[in-house]
Amino acid sequence: MEAGAMGDRKQHWEQVYRDKSPLEVSWYQKEPSLSLELIRNSGIQKDDPIIDVGGGASLLVDRLQQTGYSQLSVLDISARSLAYAQSRLGEAARQIEWHEVDVTEFSAPHRYALWHDRAVFHFLTKAADREKYVEVLNASLRPNGHLVIAAFAIGGPTQCSGLNIVQYDAERLLNVLGDGFQLLEELSESHPTPAGKRQAFSYFHLHRL
Ligand SMILES: C[S@@+](CC[C@H](N)C(=O)[O-])C[C@H]1O[C@@H](n2cnc3c(N)ncnc32)[C@H](O)[C@@H]1O
Repeated sequence: MEAGAMGDRKQHWEQVYRDKSPLEVSWYQKEPSLSLELIRNSGIQKDDPIIDVGGGASLLVDRLQQTGYSQLSVLDISARSLAYAQSRLGEAARQIEWHEVDVTEFSAPHRYALWHDRAVFHFLTKAADREKYVEVLNASLRPNGHLVIAAFAIGGPTQCSGLNIVQYDAERLLNVLGDGFQLLEELSESHPTPAGKRQAFSYFHLHRL
């Protein structure tokens, strides 16, 4: 992606977090239940490294920490979203690795046992960006690592935060990821937004071969 377009992407997300509180954004969840269920089902150890990609101000990292997972990282393109999460966590934020970067440009400082992404990959509407994401994922995830990814389902919303998205089912996701992943579980969620609407999400748990 060229520099200008990437800057636009960052600007978009910083503006979103400037305009709205993290409690008002459509993707807000008090309890990220399905993500936690799939992470638990992966069977990784409590001291295995986990990264929440595009985690923003999500409470997933708080809940993982409370459950005893100790090697946590959060990545987001928006500094503002990470600052919200850090101030919410207070002292506990010091135990977490924070990465302010576009995921397609991420160079992981070490490998992760589990990569989590809720509603981030689906914004990559260009094949070249999806290819870069998959390259970064493959370079960042351990062999035998786990991928938990949630996206708008087929028939769900076509936009999020004013941006077009790609809807996913397992077949479409596996096509983009290539041969290196095996689907272990799939869950559906009808997500209630703070504005009272419903959004159809699909959650996928895959294993890296
Ligand atoms: C719809 S929100 C989902 C946030 C969080 N995963 C959740 O479920 O609450 C998308 C998040 O991804 C971040 N984001 C969007 N594009 C990104 C990119 N290319 N690289 C890194 N983060 C990105 C945004 O700043 C935002 O925090």
